[in-house]
Amino acid sequence: MIVDTHLHLNTEDFEKDLDAVIKRAYHIGIKKLIVIGMDEQTSLQAIKIAEKYEHVYATVGLHPGYVDDNDTKFIEPLLSHPKVVGVGETGLDLYWQKDNIEKQKKCFSEQIKLSIKYKLPLVIHTRNSFDEAYELLVPYKDKAFGVFHCFSSHLDDAKKAIELGYYIGIDGPITFNKPKELLPIVKEINLEHILIETDSPYLAPTPYRGKRNEPSYLIEVAKKIAEIKALSLEEVSFITTKNAHQLFRLGGLKDEN
Ligand code: NI
Repeated sequence: MIVDTHLHLNTEDFEKDLDAVIKRAYHIGIKKLIVIGMDEQTSLQAIKIAEKYEHVYATVGLHPGYVDDNDTKFIEPLLSHPKVVGVGETGLDLYWQKDNIEKQKKCFSEQIKLSIKYKLPLVIHTRNSFDEAYELLVPYKDKAFGVFHCFSSHLDDAKKAIELGYYIGIDGPITFNKPKELLPIVKEINLEHILIETDSPYLAPTPYRGKRNEPSYLIEVAKKIAEIKALSLEEVSFITTKNAHQLFRLGGLKDEN
C-alpha cells in the first residue's frame, strides 16, 4: 500500500473522470489519498470527495496564493469533520507574490494556531520562503507539527525542518533530469522523515512530465527514491506509508498508535 499524501482532486482538472482516477490509483496500490484544500471552495470540495470514498481524506486551509481576497474564518468550523486530517495548504510564497507578505504571514500564523488547537498536522507550502516560514514556526516547537510539502529548498534547510519536527514531502521533480537540490536530500535524509506525494494535477513525474498528474503516477516517485537510496520499492512503500499514517492518523495500520 502507498499513500498519496498531497493531491488536488478538488480542481476542475478532475471534474470529468474523478471516479476513474481514484479507482486507477487504488488498483495499482495507491490505496489512500489526502485531498488538499487551498481556499474555502476547494476545502469544501475536498471534504465532499472524502465523504464519498472511504479511503480518501481531506485537509482544509488557505494557500498563500489565495490570501488576497480571502480570510481564514471558514477553516475552524470544518476542522472537527471526521475526514479532515490536517490544516492547509498554508505557508508562504515569495516566488509569485511578495507585496502581500504581511497578509500571508498573518494567515499562516492563524492556521498554525488552529493546527495546535485541534492537534492536526500542518501542510506547509514554501517557495523562496523557507527562512520566513521557519521563523514563524520556531516559537511553536513541540506544539505544531506537519510536513513541508513539495520540498524545494536545500539539504541544510531540510535538516532544520526535521529538527523542528516536520516531515519532508517529495514529489515528481525528483524524477526529473537533474534534481540538483533534491538529490542530496533524498540521499542523506532517513526515510523515516520522508512523505511521498503527487501534488496532482501539477508536477507530473517522468515519463508523464507536462501532462496532467494523477495519483497512480506516485509509483514513479517511490521507484525513484528506491533507486537513489538503493532500497527496494517495498521498503520505500512500507516506510513512507507508515509515516503518512503516523502524521495524519489515518487508521487501519497495525503498528499505528
Ligand atoms: Ni498543493
